[in-house]
Amino acid sequence: MSTPVPTLPTTLPDVEVTASRRDGVPLVVLSRGAADGPPVFGPGGDGLSEAWIDSVRLTGSAGETQPGPVDSGVRWVVGLGDGEARQWRSAGTALVKAAENTLDSDTPAPARGLQVELPEDAGDADIAEFVRGALLGGYRFKVTAEEPKPRVRAIRLIVPGDRKAGVDAAVAKAVTLAAATSFARDLANSPSNVKDPAWLAKTGAKAAGKVKGLGAEIRDEKWLAKHGFGGVLAVGGGSDRPPRLLELTWAPEGVKGPHVVLVGKGITFDTGGISIKPAEGMHLMKTDMSGGAAVIAAMIAIGRLGLPVRVTGLVPMAENHVSGSAYRPGDIVRHYGGKTTEVTNTDAEGRMVLADAIAYAADTLGPDVILDVATLTGAMKVSLGTRIAGLFADDDAVAERLIEAGARVGEAFWRMPLLEEYADTVASEVADVRQCPPGPGGVTAALFLREFTAGVPWAHLDIAGPARAEKPYDDVVPGATGFAARTLVEFVSAYS
Ligand code: BES
Ligand code: MN
Ligand code: ZN
Repeated sequence: MSTPVPTLPTTLPDVEVTASRRDGVPLVVLSRGAADGPPVFGPGGDGLSEAWIDSVRLTGSAGETQPGPVDSGVRWVVGLGDGEARQWRSAGTALVKAAENTLDSDTPAPARGLQVELPEDAGDADIAEFVRGALLGGYRFKVTAEEPKPRVRAIRLIVPGDRKAGVDAAVAKAVTLAAATSFARDLANSPSNVKDPAWLAKTGAKAAGKVKGLGAEIRDEKWLAKHGFGGVLAVGGGSDRPPRLLELTWAPEGVKGPHVVLVGKGITFDTGGISIKPAEGMHLMKTDMSGGAAVIAAMIAIGRLGLPVRVTGLVPMAENHVSGSAYRPGDIVRHYGGKTTEVTNTDAEGRMVLADAIAYAADTLGPDVILDVATLTGAMKVSLGTRIAGLFADDDAVAERLIEAGARVGEAFWRMPLLEEYADTVASEVADVRQCPPGPGGVTAALFLREFTAGVPWAHLDIAGPARAEKPYDDVVPGATGFAARTLVEFVSAYS
C-alpha cells in the first residue's frame, strides 16, 4: 500500500433481496421481545428449543445477538425489541458487529455472508432501517501493515416473492443513502498528510465521474485568482498545497423546476493559521472538510438515484496553515463579486471560503435556494453538543423542509435565530464586513455568511458538533460521522 489511506470508497456489504435461502450462507433469525415469557421468533426460529432459549437467557431485546445452537441450522438470533425503527437499525448494527468478530482469513467466502429471514410484518421502512444499521454500524476506517480483518461481504434479505419489488426499491434507496454517509466518512477520516485540496478535489471528481450525467469541474488556484476568489486564496495562501474549487453539476435532461445549490466547507486541515489553535485537539481538524464531504457524497447519491431536480455542488477547498505567506489578522480581503472583509482572526477561515462560493453561486448559477454545510464554529458545538446540528435560515419554508428531511433520514437539526440585534455588528470600520463580530459565535458567523447570499433563499447548517463522534452510538462509530449527507439527498428529493 503506497499511501496511508485505504482504497476509497470503503466497500460496504452487498445487499440482495431474494425469495429463497442459499446453502452455506449463515442463517439469521430475528426475534421480538415478549413482555413476559420467551421471545417470539420470525421465520426459521421454529427449530430452537425451549431448553436452549432458557439456557442462553434469550429475551429478544433490541440488538441482543446470540449464536444459534450448534447443528440447529441457525447461525445467529438477533433481537428486535418491540420492532420500532431504531430497534431494527440497532439489530442490523449488532448483527454485523457480532458476525465480523467471528470471521478470520480462513472463513470461506459464502460463510462471510449472512441471510436473514424477514418476518411477514416487517415493513419496507423497517427493512431499510435494518440495512442502514448493518451497513453503517459496521463501518471502520483503519490503515495497518497487516491485511484488514475480513468483513461481512453480502447480506441476503429473504422475503416472500410477491414482496420482492417493493422491498427492492426500499433497500436500493437505503443502500444509496448509507453509501453516501460512508463515503463522506471516508473523505473526512482520511488524514491530511494525504488529503490536501488537490487530493480532495481529485478524489471527489473521480467518484462523481463514475455516475452517469454527473459533471465534475476542478478549478485550480489560477482560475480562482482570475475570478476573484480572494477568501479561498487568502486562507489557502499559508499552505504549500494550493486551494481548489470543486463544482459538481447535476442537470437531468428536460427538468426545469428549481435549482438547488449545495455549498460545503472544504478545509482539509485547520491549524487556525496565524491565530493558531492550541495543540490539544488540533489533530481533529482533519475533519474540517466534513461539510464539503457531505456535499460531494450527496451529489453522488442524487445522481445515482437519478433525482429529477437541478442541483449544483460547490466545495471550496483550502488548507488553513501557518507560514510566511499566511494571511494575517488586520488584512482586508476582497471576495468574489467585490465585497471586502476585515480579517480579525485567521481561525475563522470557514466563512472566508464559503463567502466566495456563496457569492459565486448567487451571481452565476441562478439558484432558487442555497444551502451551505460547514463545521463552522466551536460555539455551535458548545450550544448544541454532538448529536444535533444548528440550522439558520432566512426562509421558514426551507428551514421546515430541512428539519423534516433530516427527521426522515435520522439526522437532527435545531433552528437557531439570525438575531437582527446583532446584524449591524458584522459591519467594519475599514471594510464592508467584519470577519468575527462580537457576540454569540454561531449566530454571528451565520450573519456574516448572509451578507453574501444576495437575497437568494438560504440556509446554513453548522455541523461542528455532530460531524465527529468520540464514542459509538446508534449506527455511528468513532471518528467522522458523515453527518448531513443523507439530509441533503432527502432535502433535494423533496423538490422532485
Ligand atoms: N473548524 C473550526 C470550528 C470547529 C471547532 C469545528 C471545533 C469542529 C470542532 C473553525 O474554523 C474555527 O476555528 N472557528 C472558530 C471561530 C472563531 C475564531 C471566531 C471557533 O469556533 O473558535
Ligand atoms: Mn478555524
Ligand atoms: Zn475550520
